Amino acid sequence: MTEPRTEAARRRTFAIISHPDAGKTTLTEKFLLYGGALTAGAGAVKARGDRRSATSDWMELEQQRGISITSTVLQFPYRDCVVNLLDTPGHRDFSEDTYRVLAAADAAVMVLDAAKGIEPQTLKLFEVCKARQMPLLTYINKWDRPGLDALQLLDEIEEKIGVTAAPVTWPVGIAGDFRGVIDRTSGQFVRFTRTARGATEAPEEIVDAERALAEEGESWAKACEEVELLSTMGLDHDQELFLGGELSPTFFGSAITNFGVRLLLDALIDLAPAAGPRPDVDGARRPLDAPFSGFVFKVQANMDKAHRDRIAFLRVCSGRFERGLVVTHATTGKPFATKYAHTVNGADRETVDEAFPGDIVGLVNATDVRVGDTLWLDEPVTFPRIPSFAPEYFSVARVRDTGRFKQFRKGIAQLDEEGVVQVLRDPDTGDQAPVLAAVGPMQFDVAVHRLENEFGAPVELSPTTYTVARRTDAASAPLLRGMRGVDVLGRSDGTLIAVFESIYWLDRLMADQPELVLESLVAGDQAG
Ligand code: G4P
Repeated sequence: MTEPRTEAARRRTFAIISHPDAGKTTLTEKFLLYGGALTAGAGAVKARGDRRSATSDWMELEQQRGISITSTVLQFPYRDCVVNLLDTPGHRDFSEDTYRVLAAADAAVMVLDAAKGIEPQTLKLFEVCKARQMPLLTYINKWDRPGLDALQLLDEIEEKIGVTAAPVTWPVGIAGDFRGVIDRTSGQFVRFTRTARGATEAPEEIVDAERALAEEGESWAKACEEVELLSTMGLDHDQELFLGGELSPTFFGSAITNFGVRLLLDALIDLAPAAGPRPDVDGARRPLDAPFSGFVFKVQANMDKAHRDRIAFLRVCSGRFERGLVVTHATTGKPFATKYAHTVNGADRETVDEAFPGDIVGLVNATDVRVGDTLWLDEPVTFPRIPSFAPEYFSVARVRDTGRFKQFRKGIAQLDEEGVVQVLRDPDTGDQAPVLAAVGPMQFDVAVHRLENEFGAPVELSPTTYTVARRTDAASAPLLRGMRGVDVLGRSDGTLIAVFESIYWLDRLMADQPELVLESLVAGDQAG
């Protein structure tokens, strides 16, 4: 039997983040192609009907909006490794969800569109990544089309997200007239060859420098000059800075034609960290060979309309997971039977029999298990909770038809547990009119849609005048409640949240009455 440590060393668990349309789905499909998990006939990879296999478009709302809201997990073999790929929602409004997914990953890949660089609406997602100090690889996609200047893109990454983009490959030929890349590690020219819509792995022709100069002329000479410049600018790979989240190995490519995909995947295997021992709440790292443990980073109900169930996604942190194990739920101390454990590949599920550190397991009907909870076997452990974000949008929810109140209450509780929105309750109105709090307004759309369609409880949302929230305590709460423009609400985890109409009023209050407890709720502040 292989040791968990040996299996963990083969695991690469990473999240992929990008702007909508930058090419995340395409790149994911190409990863699967290179991993041998997709056998592509011409065009099959991109056939719309087949896209479901690589995307998480199972929610109607996602399809209507054309964005990914929920995230999926994919696993595929590559070289002698097992790659676990965690998808993240491609919109800033769901950055809290992205943050939770990143908690379960060991590295991230950022996909940018060469023509757009870093767009404002998704900047927040990258900031979230930066806050976690994750090793980040960058793939600049769509180089087959006209785009921005390569050096300009590097500057933009540095300036906007504060990470040094250090090219591992450098394009030969400008965006739109793509000839290939210089592999800076080997100094070779990797020539770009078009395939029909990238249906097969790109035939990569390795060309030596002399021939490259003869055949590519000016483009080659210019690229060589630029590569020299990169070194003088200090943009060389540095593994320590990469592991600390300060430097991002950067690749140029064209996912649709498969170009640069293999180089990126190879770097994921060679540079990105394998699953390692994870720190518990006290900072002690649980050895990989310790008995099984893991934590839940996502809960998703009703993924499959035919089943109406609830899946808790767990990242394995130590030991060997075997289906059927009876483990302990750290929060309640109760036993938890893992009879129904799956790997969740997009919308498809397969029973999983064993899993190792770095792998993601979907536990079906894990009723009492919440986001952040730890499960362990034999030797107790508790992993750190995943901090929640400071909400910026607040709306009061009321059921339209009071006859559906029971369904409404159940639905609200479910959305709260999943973290679709945060649910804040006024001690007076409680469940009748909970305040839904969100990082972005699209979270409300998801909540309303799901309450109506899954729980049969159409709701009406009314805006509130609150704009900012702070954590407070039981001593400060009565004083705050007596003030104008402030209210104190309760979260289901027992935290008291003070909500304010104006940030200026809050600032003044903090200056005038420093004895009041008004702490920041920003997750990035507390993230380790
Ligand atoms: P997303 O998941 O990040 O939202 O992006 P997705 O992969 O769906 O790609 C968005 C669009 O960009 C798609 O076009 C896709 O074909 C195109 N695309 C992806 N990678 C490349 C690339 O390397 N080069 C070029 N030129 N285009 C690329 P679409 O018109 O929305 O879909 P389709 O009709 O091509 O299927």
